[in-house]
Amino acid sequence: MLPPDIDLTVYPDECDAFGHLNQASFLTLFERARWEVLARGPGMDVFTRNGAWPAIRKTVIDYHAAAFPGDVLRFQQVLTHHGRTSFTMRQTARRTGDDVLIATAEFVFVCIDRDGKPTPIPAELTEYLAATRGRAGLGTLQRLTVNGVSLAVDMRGEGPAILFVHGYPYNHTIWAAQMAALDGYKRIAPDLRGMGQSDAPDLGYSMATYAADLAALLDAVGVDEVVLCGLSMGGYIAFEFLRGWRRRVRGLVLVDTRAEADSPEGRRARDAAAALARERGAAAIAEEMLPKSLAPPALTRLPEMVERVRAMMAATPVAGIVGALSAMRDRIDSTALLPTLGDIPTLILVGELDEPTPPARAQAMAEAIPGARLVVIPRVGHLSPVEGADQVTQALRQFLRSL
Ligand code: MLT
Repeated sequence: MLPPDIDLTVYPDECDAFGHLNQASFLTLFERARWEVLARGPGMDVFTRNGAWPAIRKTVIDYHAAAFPGDVLRFQQVLTHHGRTSFTMRQTARRTGDDVLIATAEFVFVCIDRDGKPTPIPAELTEYLAATRGRAGLGTLQRLTVNGVSLAVDMRGEGPAILFVHGYPYNHTIWAAQMAALDGYKRIAPDLRGMGQSDAPDLGYSMATYAADLAALLDAVGVDEVVLCGLSMGGYIAFEFLRGWRRRVRGLVLVDTRAEADSPEGRRARDAAAALARERGAAAIAEEMLPKSLAPPALTRLPEMVERVRAMMAATPVAGIVGALSAMRDRIDSTALLPTLGDIPTLILVGELDEPTPPARAQAMAEAIPGARLVVIPRVGHLSPVEGADQVTQALRQFLRSL
């Protein structure tokens, strides 16, 4: 049986003078929800039985909306990462009446013994919590453990394979339109480590790790060659993949990306963004990234799309955000690679209004890669597969047919 959702009522004595659920009580409710899950699963004495108790190491809470006395909050909990002695739980609280997201939280624990020394997590606990991975809307996604992490992967269809790699701080759903439309191909769209519903380890992020995850994922699903399609950070990862596994790349699609490394100023901005994520959580990053992700036509006229993109970014684990920022900050320049790619059919796509990776950069890449074709998608920004879904799908279809 899967661990249940936990419904808890907000009482007046848990609220502040303004009638809002106060911060201390938020923590108490999150904690109560976790104990309830244990009570209904392996038992609240699971730690005592095993001589291993969870000590909190880190807490990050994003508050999305206020809660009031009488509200019933539904708590869902997912194990997002576990090592030998430490594990990370992500919890969300939604109001049952209107399904509004009230708060998301990440808690990192280390199991300690009676003397306070780290000790392995009780196996019966991880086995039970691992079952939570089937929850939280995994839907058609599969879970595959590769290169030491568990990745959530959307995989559909049969035929020549396309591997879709999303950017930062997004997830596989930015490719939803292309995944749905490109019949006749095996479409593979993972959530990168640290993003979406994949594991979010605290450390170990780099372009090399992301690329190795992808190679291991292809091994795990028995795919040798792919058309590699990366958006922005997904493009940076594609360059790294080419350095390590070039033979496996049948075609290359670079979407809203660039080949250069970060400038010194850009590197400082990565550190500032990581500090922001640590201090104010993923919601603050979502606010900062929203105007960079979508162009004014979408921002002003497509509120549902805006909210979907905001929610996707706000749900990214802080560990994944910080990890991606350090990986991007430290990535190497790939411009010297471009002239060597003449033997790989290449399509370059860019939104006309893309601010972070503007058309001029795409043009420069198209000129540097022998035979590359450039398509500019009119009136869309950085998330062109979302904002210009049909045009991007059409350009991809044409490119795939030409191979
Ligand atoms: C992305 O979309 O992946 C990011 O904008 C890339 C970056 O910040 O360099």
